[in-house]
Amino acid sequence: MIRRIFAAAGVTVALGLTMSSCANLGGLNLETVGNEDQVTYVKLALNQTETHPSYIALDNFSQRFEERTDGRWVIDIFPNEQLGSQQEVVQFISSGAIEMAIVSGTQLENLNKDFQVLNMPTTFSSIDHQMSVIRDQDLMEPIFTSLEERDNITVIGGFTQGTRNIYTKGGAITKPEDLAGLKIRVQESDMHIRMIELMGASATPLSYGEVYTAIQSGVLDGAENNEVSYTTQQHNEVAPFFNRTEHLVGLDYMIMRADLREAMSDEDRAIFDEEWDNAMTDHTELWAVETDRAIAEAEADGATFSDVDREAFEEALAPIREEFLTTDLQNKLYDDIQEAQE
Ligand code: GCU
Repeated sequence: MIRRIFAAAGVTVALGLTMSSCANLGGLNLETVGNEDQVTYVKLALNQTETHPSYIALDNFSQRFEERTDGRWVIDIFPNEQLGSQQEVVQFISSGAIEMAIVSGTQLENLNKDFQVLNMPTTFSSIDHQMSVIRDQDLMEPIFTSLEERDNITVIGGFTQGTRNIYTKGGAITKPEDLAGLKIRVQESDMHIRMIELMGASATPLSYGEVYTAIQSGVLDGAENNEVSYTTQQHNEVAPFFNRTEHLVGLDYMIMRADLREAMSDEDRAIFDEEWDNAMTDHTELWAVETDRAIAEAEADGATFSDVDREAFEEALAPIREEFLTTDLQNKLYDDIQEAQE
């Protein structure tokens, strides 16, 4: 309950900030963005806390971009879902109400099914594999630009979500049968609903900020996420059994209004891209450190981390590829991604 009140207060704070700090409340004037005689304020939505690696990497990115453009550009980061859930902020970018956001790949798959390829168990074998694919411009360009025309959204790159695992409230699980009858939260994605069903549980899609209360009140028996989210969202308090299913290497995207990116001068866009590239490197380095810290913190608070029958889960998940990769384009992208690691 307290968490929701904080979130509501956050929205008020966010709107207050927006009103006082933005030169143009009705949205940016794209004809003058980045001009010498003004400050262009950009709103960036994030659903993580200020201690999460994504916030830290974004904060450094924003400071460096501001410095290198002599203060002409200011990126204001709004963490903790202050500007809305991920599903909402995708719409806000599309309508021009905000300019940038970090969203999970599952949100984009609802706009273009080709994104499913990158959100699927088995696609990435490791974080390194994932990050090298995301940086492969030739491979990613068609999918990163695919939403520009219809949705005015362009994808700039990505942050890893690390490896996702199932955590439970009532006790540890080791095999798919142990999940029978348990309600596990998933992101808002048909493919992830199916993923959890194949793994043996029943799936409940819900936005990130609702998960803690839903587990605490008994509406859910658990969720699936990485170690960093597990502790920064304090899910370890309500679901102390972390089962290392490692079923997915997840991916977040940096998305931006396509018309804003287009309106930037070539020089500013080049600085932006260089600093964003540094942010991806920072984030990946931080991720390893923060994952270890998250495990230590959760263990100190009483959570247990245990291994599962990984093969049994892999076998259970085997049909997902055939069920969800249905077009030639999806299959080609999947194969290209596999080749990229060889
Ligand atoms: C991770 C990911 C978020 C996503 C969240 C979720 O934390 O980084 O972008 O929203 O998982 O499960 O909803």
